[in-house]
Amino acid sequence: MKSRLTVFNQKGGVGKTTTALNLGAALAARGLSPLLIDLDPQAHLSAILAPAADSNDSLFAFYNTGRRLDELARAVSLAGAGRGMLVPGHPELIKVDALFGKGPNILNRLREGVEAYFLHTAPGAQAAPLIVDCSPMLGVLSLNSVFATERVLVPISTDHLAVRGAVQLQNSLKALEHVLKRRVERRYVLTRFDGRRRMSHEIAEQLSAAFGEELCATRIAETVALAESPAHGRDVYAHASGSRGAQDYTALLEELLACGFLEV
Ligand SMILES: Nc1ncnc2c1ncn2[C@@H]1O[C@H](COP(=O)(O)OP(=O)(O)O)[C@@H](O)[C@H]1O
Ligand SMILES: [Mg+2]
Repeated sequence: MKSRLTVFNQKGGVGKTTTALNLGAALAARGLSPLLIDLDPQAHLSAILAPAADSNDSLFAFYNTGRRLDELARAVSLAGAGRGMLVPGHPELIKVDALFGKGPNILNRLREGVEAYFLHTAPGAQAAPLIVDCSPMLGVLSLNSVFATERVLVPISTDHLAVRGAVQLQNSLKALEHVLKRRVERRYVLTRFDGRRRMSHEIAEQLSAAFGEELCATRIAETVALAESPAHGRDVYAHASGSRGAQDYTALLEELLACGFLEV
């Protein structure tokens, strides 16, 4: 299960999608072919990587009509020459909570779908790494993702609300653990870090005191390449392979692998 990761924070704009995309690209740059799932009704990850999907061809159809994830996944280009698979999101995902939130076994739906995906696509082989990009809402969809992956990577944007947000996030994870009935493995990563600002270093120190080893040593710097690459429909490796952004996400992947949080 250590090859699966949920990217979650209940704040918007902290770098969840940027992290899901570029960690996926970092995996592709290592020659792996990750599966990305866009669980966010805003479907930003899908908008960056693939032409818009009809709701029948998106993750919504998995919940709504029981279509299989391997039928919905499309090949996408990552890190220039690399490849991955994407199950696209769709605005209709917003309905999943209301339509199916009280159904039997709903919390395990995505987990079962993912197991079936790997059985169909690569029986007997080692499963490809999985990264799920979540919306900021702590609802059925995010719970589905945590159940499917059992581990959470939390991007924290280095701004003056970071510490407050991080405390709220710990409460959210506690709520998740209450449902999951065990501790959710997690790592925090500082994003949009600007080393020229004293405030950035102060925030890093406060978070380090709060989270200890669960705060990644790697920080993702605020860079133009990371901000601009989505507009070109590309990850940062395809956009500017030698950029600081690409280096930072490579370092993040290496750190997650070295500490055993992720295994591929
Ligand atoms: N390290 C970074 N440097 C520059 N811009 C960034 C960085 N990380 C994220 N952004 C930009 O900030 C905005 C919000 O990031 P995004 O990944 O979409 O956040 P979320 O998915 O948490 O809402 C996007 O426009 C994105 O391109
Ligand atoms: Mg997002």
